[in-house]
Amino acid sequence: MMARSRLSSSWTLLFSLAILLGCLVIPGVSVKHENFKKCAQSGFCKRNRALADDVSAKGTSWSSPYELDHTDLHFENGQLKGTILKTVSSPQKVKLPLLISFLESGVARVTVDEEKRINGDIEIRHESQARKERYNDAQTWALIGGLDLSKSATLSAETQDGFTKIAYGPDNSYQAVIRHAPFSVEFQRDGQTHVQFNDKGYLNMEHWRPKVEVPAEGEQDVLGAKEDESTWWEETFGGNTDTKPRGPESVGLDISFPGYTHVFGIPEHADSLSLRETRGGSGNHEEPYRLYNSDVFEYELNSPMTLYGAIPLMQAHRKDSTVGVFWLNAAETWIDIVKSKADTQTHWFSEAGQLDVFVFLGPSPREISKKYGELTGYTQLPQQFAIAYHQCRWNYVTDEDVKEVDRNFDKYQIPYDIIWLDIEYLDDRKYFTWDPLTFPDPISMEKQLDESERKLVVIIDPHIKNQDKFDISKEMKSKGLATRNKDGDIYEGWCWPGSSNWIDCFNPAAIKWWISLFKYDRFKGTLPNVFIWNDMNEPSVFNGPETTMPKDNLHHGNWEHRDVHNVNGITFVNATYQAMLERKKGEIRRPFILTRSFYAGAQRMSAMWTGDNQATWEHLAISLPMVLNNGISGYPFAGADVGGFFHNPSKELLTRWYQTGIWYPFFRAHAHIDTRRREPYLIQEPFRSIITQAIRLRYQLLPAWYTAFHEASVNGTPIVRPQFYVHPTDEAGFTIDDQLYLGSTGILAKPAVSEEATSVDIYIADDEKYYDYFDYTVYQGAGKHHSVPAPMEKIPVLMQGGHIIPRKDRPRRSSGLMKYDPYTLVIVLDKNSQAEGSLYVDDGETFDYQRGGYVHRRFHFDGSSLVSEDIATPGPQTAAYQKTIASVHVERVVVVDPPKEWQSKNTVTVIEDGAKASSTASLEYVVQGDGKAPYAVVKNPNVGIGKTWRIEF
Ligand code: NOJ
Repeated sequence: MMARSRLSSSWTLLFSLAILLGCLVIPGVSVKHENFKKCAQSGFCKRNRALADDVSAKGTSWSSPYELDHTDLHFENGQLKGTILKTVSSPQKVKLPLLISFLESGVARVTVDEEKRINGDIEIRHESQARKERYNDAQTWALIGGLDLSKSATLSAETQDGFTKIAYGPDNSYQAVIRHAPFSVEFQRDGQTHVQFNDKGYLNMEHWRPKVEVPAEGEQDVLGAKEDESTWWEETFGGNTDTKPRGPESVGLDISFPGYTHVFGIPEHADSLSLRETRGGSGNHEEPYRLYNSDVFEYELNSPMTLYGAIPLMQAHRKDSTVGVFWLNAAETWIDIVKSKADTQTHWFSEAGQLDVFVFLGPSPREISKKYGELTGYTQLPQQFAIAYHQCRWNYVTDEDVKEVDRNFDKYQIPYDIIWLDIEYLDDRKYFTWDPLTFPDPISMEKQLDESERKLVVIIDPHIKNQDKFDISKEMKSKGLATRNKDGDIYEGWCWPGSSNWIDCFNPAAIKWWISLFKYDRFKGTLPNVFIWNDMNEPSVFNGPETTMPKDNLHHGNWEHRDVHNVNGITFVNATYQAMLERKKGEIRRPFILTRSFYAGAQRMSAMWTGDNQATWEHLAISLPMVLNNGISGYPFAGADVGGFFHNPSKELLTRWYQTGIWYPFFRAHAHIDTRRREPYLIQEPFRSIITQAIRLRYQLLPAWYTAFHEASVNGTPIVRPQFYVHPTDEAGFTIDDQLYLGSTGILAKPAVSEEATSVDIYIADDEKYYDYFDYTVYQGAGKHHSVPAPMEKIPVLMQGGHIIPRKDRPRRSSGLMKYDPYTLVIVLDKNSQAEGSLYVDDGETFDYQRGGYVHRRFHFDGSSLVSEDIATPGPQTAAYQKTIASVHVERVVVVDPPKEWQSKNTVTVIEDGAKASSTASLEYVVQGDGKAPYAVVKNPNVGIGKTWRIEF
């Protein structure tokens, strides 16, 4: 009874908040456009677009006012230093220090800053108004390495005909051609230009200027009176006024990709993988793609509107080449895209900060992944459980409820690894507490989960309930660790707890304090199997401008929120990550954190999901390009809420969503508090069994998934890959974003994402044979679509010839219980009867793998024998780890489409390194008709998974 009344009070609060926000969940209602800026409502966006329009209109009569001072250029140790002079109004010039760094990796970095004074002769009249530096610290959060300077880069021509040229990259086959006046740069590979800066003349560094309250007669010209000043010093949107104490300071640049017709990347948007043009026209957007991390309620699809996260990495792709740019800026950013016949021009502009852009010259998508990862880090290798199935909803309402759900999964024999608690587990929405009435005994709940190696994830958001008697609130305030408003006082706004304050994780002292809160003796009721969900970290502020913080809020170091908005989310994740590493001395487990907001670099610490989607077929379909886009943008541990967050999916939609969700690297079902319960065991037959089979397929393939995660953690490769990434020379596949490849396994899935589908058309790029995953039906024929049956119970998935796929076939309750289960290897032969594959295994929990505690095997089939060879780099933990899996064996080898001669064979010879003698195992050859390939099965070859061995057929 008590529990009920407590719950209903939470509901009442929620209801009143929903009304306050005008965000009641009404099916069919979608995003409130009026809550988010269009370009024309954002001062700097409007100004930069207007500049582009102006320049285009003027054509050749326009000359960009930026000129490199060629008398003062220095090239040394892989860096070119100089000054760009911006003519404000003749003879007035602003000095913009330029640094072009040529990195050992072959990446070039262009940084443009601004001198504090205008040409030294205009004094800063009011020190209080003077800008410090432009924000240059996004790199602290985004970058972790890859900045070694090239030793071989050379100045290939000394200031000739107004150009400076520098050769760099592999064998100095790249060249940066820097034009002095107007300033522009061309990046060439093998003599051909692939990326151009300021070719169109949109370069714009809005320089610092003092605020002149009442401009004196004649003074305006000097300070640029011809410009539209209406949004320089103050901007109002939706009733909120941004005081902009530093005035206009945006940075803009056009970046062209001559010869490229496709550009990908710049997540997060609910849009196609191949980005659209943004200047209107049929099928195009009218608005630029926006990057301003926001909590967008009921977001719309096929839209350039901003969402929760931002990765300003774009790659341009054509038949024989991929190149890319990474725009390192943490402020609000917009990107316009215009395509002409064979070229793509992009126009980037950010509200504040330095201009800081990295240029990648490919030549393949893999190289971009690798080089971008060297800079921003690779995906953290997650714990094994984290890549299994997650069961979430808002909310499991009591600890008994959680235990009941847990028991039901077992009763219906559906595997799952993690159950989640949303905000209702809290006492009065205070993080680090438990509702004493509904969660009186979290430890016994966690212990029950632990019995089957299951985990619990609890939500911890960055807003702290503003309440004097709440110790955490008191500590945060008294220690000065909260974000401040423009006047320097603690910022107060509204979020789930009502009145709230926000931890400022830019502050090292705040991180230190945050770490202390997660210690087991502080965060009572948590055991080592508890992990963390960081939500609302854009940050979401219900009563803030565009549902976030005012831009003139202040962070540690007195940086305005404007400067750092897009990295704000990952500073919070970073603090949580540190905290999870230090919960107890000596207990070192890989943290698992899910974040909603992200920026470049988030992949080192967390998984992400695509936020509050809806239970519609359209949302199901868009989840594929969104997840694929994250993958090629360096943050592949991504997923969407299975089932759709808002509204109730039909049984068919839910089932198809599971069949799709098993292909998300992050596979979690989640649902809004207003939706009906939809745990898979509640769904009527035959849907329950179909969903169970889908989840089991995910579990069966966990060895392949974990191997793909390992690859991502060392090379930056996406875990699920789009068509262009796997077949970069096949032009017909460049726009395909509804089918995906799992790692390097050759598994090609195309989930059915439309109502009443009975088949899907899978596009095959090459002339290898592809085999249906389940019955080995053969599909072959390059450059065309093949109809693959997809009745409700069937997941359309093929295996490309030439691969060896590791699996674990025994159904279990959780992935933890599969740890020592035997393997099945599926060999799918290519045209030449060859196949290859790999397997990575470690303890799935600790960091021992960094000291050699893992097994990494390469399997190769050459037509007559299958070999397992070691490709690991041994370390101090190798032997100890090998010992733990000494008993883990291969229990089955399946060869799809084997040579006909094998029909007469009954046995194979097995030779294991170190064994006294060879042994034999039985071979069964199975003939199938009806377009299905034959297959052969080796039963129990009994070879150790960590051993070197050979099976001769
Ligand atoms: C917003 C998140 O996107 C959603 O997944 C969550 O359920 C709610 N916040 C409540 O915490």
